[in-house]
Amino acid sequence: MLFDTHCHINTDKFKDDLEKTINSATKNGVKKMLVVGFDHKTNENAILLAEKYDFIYATVGFHPSDAKKISDKDFTILEKQLQHPKVVAVGECGMDMYWDKTFVDEQINVFQRQIELSLKYSKPLIIHMRDASEVTYNVLSEYNGLSGVMHCYTGSVEMAKMFIKLGLYISIGGIVTFKNARVSKEVAEFLTLDKMLIETDSPYLAPHPHRGKRNEPSYVKLVAEEVSRIKGIPYIDVAETTYNNALKLFNIKE
Ligand code: NI
Repeated sequence: MLFDTHCHINTDKFKDDLEKTINSATKNGVKKMLVVGFDHKTNENAILLAEKYDFIYATVGFHPSDAKKISDKDFTILEKQLQHPKVVAVGECGMDMYWDKTFVDEQINVFQRQIELSLKYSKPLIIHMRDASEVTYNVLSEYNGLSGVMHCYTGSVEMAKMFIKLGLYISIGGIVTFKNARVSKEVAEFLTLDKMLIETDSPYLAPHPHRGKRNEPSYVKLVAEEVSRIKGIPYIDVAETTYNNALKLFNIKE
């Protein structure tokens, strides 16, 4: 059993073969999927998919790259969507210094508002962090009682320890399968299974041997296999423990 805790099958990249993609995931042992929203359109689509399939769950949030565009009205809509029973987390939200460093304050503000919603509704955070370990940590560490996950984590082992201390899980994605991904492999080796989730982040970052092509939820199996290899533990332990971690974090009853 596998839980892809981060996929974007709610985007146009899957508009022609969505049904096929979902079936292929199911056939490859993916028992549950979390479809992650990052703007109005993808938030809405995530909810529609969660309503249609009982094994799909949704998240709603605003991506840091859009922080300048987000208004109070947007947050009113988000807060309403968050109360949907199949919306199990807030995000993806966070900090991104890779694409643009010119509106850090706006990013921090939009992130903080989503952290506050996470605490208010007791729904965990899906945290995006790109070239922004320090500022992401500084924003998060202002709060107590956090729950959530550092999605597709590419930071250092040292930072991973600090995020775990804040109460967060670390999610491993397809990058761990890349030959040159030394730090990601180190993180997978260091993490104990009880702090780990796995994901695809499809359509992005497809694992080896699909690198460069469109990613899809069935490939989460390749992530679990690589973690099993790196840690020298049975595949089934990686699959089952990360699956159960996800049920616990997202408060999903089977
Ligand atoms: Ni994502």
